[in-house]
Amino acid sequence: MELHDLVGPIDTLSSNWPDQPQVYQHTPDTFRDLLTLHEIDELIDSNCLAARNVVLLRKEDGGVVESHEYTDGDMPRPGTVREHLDRGGSISLRLLHTLYPRLAILKNNVQGATLCRAHVNAYLTPGRQQGLRYHYDPYVTLIVQLHGRKTWPLHKPMVERPTEEHENFRLRGWTDEEHKFLATTPPAQSVTLEPGNVFWLPRGWIHAPYAVSEEPSLHITVALKERTLSWLVEHLAEIIVRHARADFDARQVLAPADLLADPNEALEWTRKYMIGALIGLDLEATMASALNKARTT
Ligand SMILES: [Fe+2]
Repeated sequence: MELHDLVGPIDTLSSNWPDQPQVYQHTPDTFRDLLTLHEIDELIDSNCLAARNVVLLRKEDGGVVESHEYTDGDMPRPGTVREHLDRGGSISLRLLHTLYPRLAILKNNVQGATLCRAHVNAYLTPGRQQGLRYHYDPYVTLIVQLHGRKTWPLHKPMVERPTEEHENFRLRGWTDEEHKFLATTPPAQSVTLEPGNVFWLPRGWIHAPYAVSEEPSLHITVALKERTLSWLVEHLAEIIVRHARADFDARQVLAPADLLADPNEALEWTRKYMIGALIGLDLEATMASALNKARTT
């Protein structure tokens, strides 16, 4: 499966990269061959789902169950994931592109078409239950609803342009004020997904989805980690660091006494060195290596 099977023509997407939530409609059985509830049930009930591929979310507050509470070595203890679901808990199935070749193909196609680093997770939520509570992700999530129905209450981003390294929700959480706002304010908008719906959720948008059907809700999430200008800065910096490490002059020792007495001389040399390295960059080769890196890592 290709990205255009989910969101239509890639050229349109690339030139109008959506910064608002967007639903793409398909017929209910369009994604029947992508992943089925039966396959996930088999993974769980045959006890061959490794601990690294599953996270248990508490029914009560959507928090993550500590893995030591249900695992034995690399595997969940037999039956514990099913018992968790039977009690109304949700599960997040992680990195399914490492388990199913067709999802690996989808992930690679998405990455090749968008230059975004991609991964594929899935979420299984029992009927009428809720998994994660209000949070945001530092990347676009492309949700493909496969089974059941799920409603996504949404709030506009409170943190603009979060990245994994900056203002990441998992590290930052909510301020008291933000928490109070989310607890007392109706969502700015709400989207209910049915099988065949694909939902584009830009990074930063706040969401807390819950199953609205009696039957379980299953969706896959294709994460698209967008490349940013800071990513390009990082790429150029890596090139300069590699250059410096191979440079005889740059490998000169900094005597501790000199460094402590007057670090400015070394700093000034370094600043000039970096400026010179940046000016001397072969832009064509640099961009080619950046694009190659974007497609493959
Ligand atoms: Fe999320």
